[in-house]
Amino acid sequence: MDQVSSTIKPDLIARICALCDGEDDKIAIMATVSAELYHGVDGFDWVGFYRVVSPGLMKIGPYQGGHGCLVIPFERGVCGAAARQKAIQIVDDVERFDGHIACSASTKSELVIPCFDACGELLGVLDIDSDKPAFFNTGDARKLDQMLRCLFSGAN
Ligand code: SME
Repeated sequence: MDQVSSTIKPDLIARICALCDGEDDKIAIMATVSAELYHGVDGFDWVGFYRVVSPGLMKIGPYQGGHGCLVIPFERGVCGAAARQKAIQIVDDVERFDGHIACSASTKSELVIPCFDACGELLGVLDIDSDKPAFFNTGDARKLDQMLRCLFSGAN
């Protein structure tokens, strides 16, 4: 079933957009998004970015939460799948996702959203983990996707 409910309040999205207004540095945007989402939503236990650094390879960017693995090739993990397919991944149960990279044993579900610049080039992915199973829904994913497209459209 296509869930469209959302745990992300509209004022949080509005605050992030206000904080990043006029900012064109993508690392500054990533740091702000990570901090605001991590501290703003109960149930988001890790929030961060993996950045494309060479063809088929991502490295860790700004994040909040316990330590994340430093390098993710496009062939690996939920993040790799999002980058490879250029498509949002909602994983209700990470143990059932073939190739999931377990940075924390407590993670139960995961949402990964690819990020693009104004030219449609893949910048990286936003990865959000939850210790609760099936925590993410299409409503959250759509809101965040729209926000990221807007924030990174003028970034370099
Ligand atoms: N679980 C991710 C790896 C990154 S950590 O969750 C921070 C994946 O499978 O791609």
